[in-house]
Amino acid sequence: MNQYAQMKHTGTASCVCDLRSDTVTCPDDAMRDAIANARVGDDVYEEDPSVIQLESEMAARLGKEAGLFFPSGTQSNLAAMMAHCARGDEIIVGKDYHVYSDEAAGASVLAGISLCPVPTQAGGEIHPDTIADAIKDDDIHYARTKLLCLENTVGGKAIPVDKMRAASAVAKENGLLVHLDGARFFNAVAALDCDPIELAEVADTISICLSKGLGAPAGSVLVGNSQTIKRAIRNRKILGGGMRQAGFLAAAGLYALENNITDLMDDHRRAARLGNCLTDLAVGDVEIHTNMVFFTPAPEHHAPLCAHMSDRGIRIGEQSPSIRLVLHRDVDDGALDHAIEGFKSYYQDA
Ligand SMILES: Cc1ncc(COP(=O)(O)O)c(C=O)c1O
Repeated sequence: MNQYAQMKHTGTASCVCDLRSDTVTCPDDAMRDAIANARVGDDVYEEDPSVIQLESEMAARLGKEAGLFFPSGTQSNLAAMMAHCARGDEIIVGKDYHVYSDEAAGASVLAGISLCPVPTQAGGEIHPDTIADAIKDDDIHYARTKLLCLENTVGGKAIPVDKMRAASAVAKENGLLVHLDGARFFNAVAALDCDPIELAEVADTISICLSKGLGAPAGSVLVGNSQTIKRAIRNRKILGGGMRQAGFLAAAGLYALENNITDLMDDHRRAARLGNCLTDLAVGDVEIHTNMVFFTPAPEHHAPLCAHMSDRGIRIGEQSPSIRLVLHRDVDDGALDHAIEGFKSYYQDA
């Protein structure tokens, strides 16, 4: 069974703590007020003040000329790839990066762009030599290597700015453009304690999700230079992503940018607490990266542990062998206590 099939919740207990993903976050009352009071217009006519404000706010925060609001991260990544590449071009991308492994090969299916997956290092980055080796000669037999697609964070791992720079530098030396899937860009910035502009400098375009740890119900923003964003507007239209009174969603994004970024550190702190408790139990391998914990129970405990947690209203993905546990703003200290208690009671009785 694939990881997405294993994410669907099938238990009957009401949910106390949902650790499956940070995409499950729901708007709080203050964000709902911001949505209800949003000033809106027709965004396809470029007349929605909230969308315009969100786009320019995100671009300014990342030191880029322009921004563009999308319904999803998948569409934002795809519109960026289409803005950088033509049919017959190729993208070098980490083989475990979302763009390659979890976006249904949209660039190939819809835009005639091939994806060249390359191995990543233990820290999530692509080694500069791997990039250099993957760049194809200019030969009529080969696809034209055009773009390097990076990701940060990767499986929760925050890749340091110098490693991002090293990857980007090889691409630039060889005339490639660089796109960064920064779905959790602000988790990376928080963990690395760096300036967002410093991290954004490694890429020509960056896609940032508002609907994960930042807590908005939907939406991503693509930032880059004005010419690229202009092409991305057309691509968004082609992909059916031109929304009308999108300001209701943009208002949630603006609220998240202004109020929720600093809370990401709380998610990282809670992930460390959960991971350390699991380490203390000494019942399986534990890795902690930003807001994610990866726990590998012994195979015979996998299914009964998941059932035990589900019975207590604790939702966890049932990926195997390693279970991903994601901390986010809808899991407070009390909910986390309950989850930790769930793990402890399972292993006490096991
Ligand atoms: C790293 C990464 N990139 C892109 C996406 C795509 O975002 P969306 O679900 O909004 O299409 C996700 C979603 O989980 C993601 O984790």
